[in-house]
Amino acid sequence: MNMDNQQVVQPDFTLDYIYEQLTKLPTFPKVVQKALELLDDPNTTTQDLVEVLKFDPAITTNILKITNSARFGLQKQVTSLDTALALLGQNQIKEILVASGSLPFLSRELYGYGMRPEDLWHHSMATGICAECICAHIGFDDPSLLFTAAILHDVGKIVLNLFVGAKLDTIMDLAGREGFTFSEAEWMALGADHAIIGSEIMRLWDFPLDIYRAVRNHHDPDLYVQDKVSALLALSNILVVMLGIGVGTDGFRHKISPRLMEVLGLKKDDIYELLLKTWQAFTDAHEILELYKS
Ligand SMILES: [Fe+2]
Ligand SMILES: [Fe+2]
Repeated sequence: MNMDNQQVVQPDFTLDYIYEQLTKLPTFPKVVQKALELLDDPNTTTQDLVEVLKFDPAITTNILKITNSARFGLQKQVTSLDTALALLGQNQIKEILVASGSLPFLSRELYGYGMRPEDLWHHSMATGICAECICAHIGFDDPSLLFTAAILHDVGKIVLNLFVGAKLDTIMDLAGREGFTFSEAEWMALGADHAIIGSEIMRLWDFPLDIYRAVRNHHDPDLYVQDKVSALLALSNILVVMLGIGVGTDGFRHKISPRLMEVLGLKKDDIYELLLKTWQAFTDAHEILELYKS
């Protein structure tokens, strides 16, 4: 991001205060982290997973509800966790776990970003769905890693929200009249943007480097072309913003750079196809998005 010769607005509170808020956030559910670890171990059995997940009724309920949803078209109602886990694929289990664990963090109203309570949830799930479409399109071999990064890519907004709200006039002035991106305006007004704050949250929650680095990079065109996970996450986010799903006051000046297309080996026609597939898949997933919340 090039800010040479630009006037930087000095924050009137310290970054220490913003970073202090990170330590006050609840941790990401340990049950989910443990289950994700188990799923990466080829020796794990369904029973091992059941032993961990049975202590979290909300996640168990979500697994059962989603297994019984129209998406899977089962003839008989599944009522036990081990049957559900045996029926689902490994990536599906991971995605349900990550989405269930993330929902409490993502279903908040974010005044600073002009987002209603459902907007961040819809935007995050749509980014996860878009990431899945892109992975299938280009043959990326770790879709659940990208899905995790996608679901939590904007988690920094839940901490920065109050600070953005307090500096909204300055940020909107920089992002609107002066032509900066919203993320650049956050940096200029606050000394940090939601990407670096989100990345720090995920590092504190013990997510792997590939994931929190991609979250760190998702608005920085110089950084997100440097590794594939970051590039895929950045593109997923841009496509979902282009589709207008769950966007707030920061939903403008997102464009796909030629370098990003080149790094991912994509052409214009691929982008049109991915936009269409994402919209279709997001519309189809509407029932599931609501199931998590009910
Ligand atoms: Fe973002
Ligand atoms: Fe986003």
